Amino acid sequence: MKCKLGLERCPDDILRCFPRIEQSFGVVIFGASGDLTKRKLIPALNRLFEAGILPERFFVLGAARTNMDDEEFRSRFEAHPDFLRHCSYISVDYQNLESFKPLKNTVDDLMKKIGSSNLIFYLAVPPDLYIPILENLSKAGLNRKPARVVIEKPFGKDLESARRLEDTLQKHFQEDQIFRIDHYLGKETVQNILVFRFANFIFEEIWNNKFVDHVQITMAEDIGVEHRAGYFENVGLLRDIFQNHMLQILALIAMEPPSSFNGENFRNERVKLLRSIRPFPVEELESWIVRGQYGRGVVNGKEVPAYREEPGVAKDSNVETFVAMKLFIDNWRWSGVPFYLRSGKRLPKKITEVAVVFKKIPHSIFAGVPSDELEPNTIVFTLQPNEGISLEFQVKRPCPGMFPQLLSMDFRYEDYFGVKLPDAYERLLLDVILGDPTLFMRRDDLEVSWELLDPVLKAWENDPVRFSPYVYPAGTWGPREADLLIERDGRKWRKL
Ligand code: BG6
Repeated sequence: MKCKLGLERCPDDILRCFPRIEQSFGVVIFGASGDLTKRKLIPALNRLFEAGILPERFFVLGAARTNMDDEEFRSRFEAHPDFLRHCSYISVDYQNLESFKPLKNTVDDLMKKIGSSNLIFYLAVPPDLYIPILENLSKAGLNRKPARVVIEKPFGKDLESARRLEDTLQKHFQEDQIFRIDHYLGKETVQNILVFRFANFIFEEIWNNKFVDHVQITMAEDIGVEHRAGYFENVGLLRDIFQNHMLQILALIAMEPPSSFNGENFRNERVKLLRSIRPFPVEELESWIVRGQYGRGVVNGKEVPAYREEPGVAKDSNVETFVAMKLFIDNWRWSGVPFYLRSGKRLPKKITEVAVVFKKIPHSIFAGVPSDELEPNTIVFTLQPNEGISLEFQVKRPCPGMFPQLLSMDFRYEDYFGVKLPDAYERLLLDVILGDPTLFMRRDDLEVSWELLDPVLKAWENDPVRFSPYVYPAGTWGPREADLLIERDGRKWRKL
């Protein structure tokens, strides 16, 4: 089928298919000297520029506490020189309203120059700075529509702080001005879950407790905490990965079909699904959630230190770098189907996958092949790397007798489309510039996920001895207790 642009096949650079933005715009990035700006934001904007999507007139104004001039700011990035000409820098003390006056003057001048009111503030700063920045933006009169504000997780530390942040946001900005980023929603493969489920008839019919035995979601990373101990020590893996990415993936896998993808329908169904997750029983939390922390070990053939030996990590830190959990979704479709989720740092490799494991056949007609020894059909979404979808099924081995063997029929994006998938930030920044909120979180997304995880965090905090994380050697798939979590139910984690 031809796409909307009339093409049979995708071009090598998919970004060339995105429509050029006509309206001029300006982005102010708070936290411009930080890691996110350097690793993600500027490269993404630069790619959009190189693909010819950005309009002729736009600006990127970096703002941070560091003192530096435009040249020094530009020299931090590897980007097209013509793109860098659109970038400048202003030093701002986030907590000080006085500092927002020169900022406002600079923004007003730049906006006049580009002749547009399309203005975006991107908060790529540590979370304790969100509220002061939002308040100062408002006091300086920079919050007026159509200005938009983009915030990154962590959206608070718990339900209460998330509500405080949300109250501040909503006091100063209207909902259609607020863009809460979860970069997983910008990933092509994550969005493909929706196409797979809702553009095919045959799968949707079996996507329920009559056919599905259980679902496994794994988000594994081989890297450790790297240079982010300052952040991670305050956050831990449950907040870092589960409160956002993991629950959003779960929502897409399990949600009901929305009546349309655009607008609020999709977001409503996502939130409805999250609301159906059964709360964890705090008295017997250990049977539902396992906490781990990496010790020394070997990853990719290299010896690596324990989490507690990483620079910036407390020697007696109790922060988890691994979580495995089992949960149920209490609705008609999923009643009784366990979902097993695990994620961790310093695991053997980087891989994110969702496996929908179907029930075993009820009876085997083949002599010597008991039905419960036949591995079940599984649909696997590999979200990264080597992105694609696989269907695992049994075939007859080409030998005398009737011996089944499990094989996997694989679709890989790169093999089929021959394209490099765009980075999630490229897609999401484009949506922010265009003002499309579909792939962003809403206040209720956040509140529901905090409502689910808050009691767990509180229980861990109140009884640090009982819930102290199990240590697993770096380079393994987490503590033994994570295996027991699923093995107790007669199932196993997939070998990845
Ligand atoms: C971020 C987390 O949101 O996601 C990091 O803060 C994690 O700890 C990262 O490493 C993983 O993202 P991706 O896109 O590399 O899977």
